[in-house]
Amino acid sequence: MRMNIVVHETPDELAYAVAAEISGQIAASDGRFTLGLAGGSSPEPTYRRLREADVPWEQVDAWLSDERWVPPDHPRSNGRMASETLLAHVGARFHRPPWGEMFRPDDSAAHYEAKIRSIHPDGAPDLIILGLGDDGHTASLFPGTKAMAEKNRWIVANHVPEHDESRLTATYPLLWRARAIVFVVTGEGKAGAVKKSLQGETPAGRVDQGDGRVKWHLDDAAASQLS
Ligand code: 6PG
Repeated sequence: MRMNIVVHETPDELAYAVAAEISGQIAASDGRFTLGLAGGSSPEPTYRRLREADVPWEQVDAWLSDERWVPPDHPRSNGRMASETLLAHVGARFHRPPWGEMFRPDDSAAHYEAKIRSIHPDGAPDLIILGLGDDGHTASLFPGTKAMAEKNRWIVANHVPEHDESRLTATYPLLWRARAIVFVVTGEGKAGAVKKSLQGETPAGRVDQGDGRVKWHLDDAAASQLS
């Protein structure tokens, strides 16, 4: 996978540039376009910018590269964040993992994987946005957790001890099929994880072992430990 790095002075400039890049890819697509969305807080400014884009949103299938195992309207839900900042404002289809008292995380992961496979008849996500944790995790691929070793499934439930919670996450087999991956990383607190990731020493650092292109969008603070 080819990799490049773009450094922006501020998080707002990063959000503007990434939104322009993504809307350009959606506008250039001649059919369905699949967009995997990161959770957490870093992508929020980009999602808010994206909702102003004049693109054929009705051609877009949006999905989540990971989700915490919480009710869909919970304040910690990535799906709720993605909906509030972007998807409730545009005409894209938004595919979220099923949640309910009768579901266990493993059941939901199996259902969600079937849905994600159904929106990728050619098996290749067009674009996945990912974030980076200060421990170098991405999606919910945390260092030392079981999902790191998954070789076949595209979506699995993963127990994350430091958060004492289950999460659903895209696996490397799915991430490595993406045509394009865009990391959105801002803030001084991520600078060490960025440096280690670009040296291939973190879960995020293994994302570039697929066939597509990986682009790291960093602000000055997150890039501050790079020579
Ligand atoms: C999540 C995310 C996760 C996130 C990083 C960074 O569910 O938390 O998907 O991988 O991208 O933890 O989070 P922040 O952007 O909030 O720093």
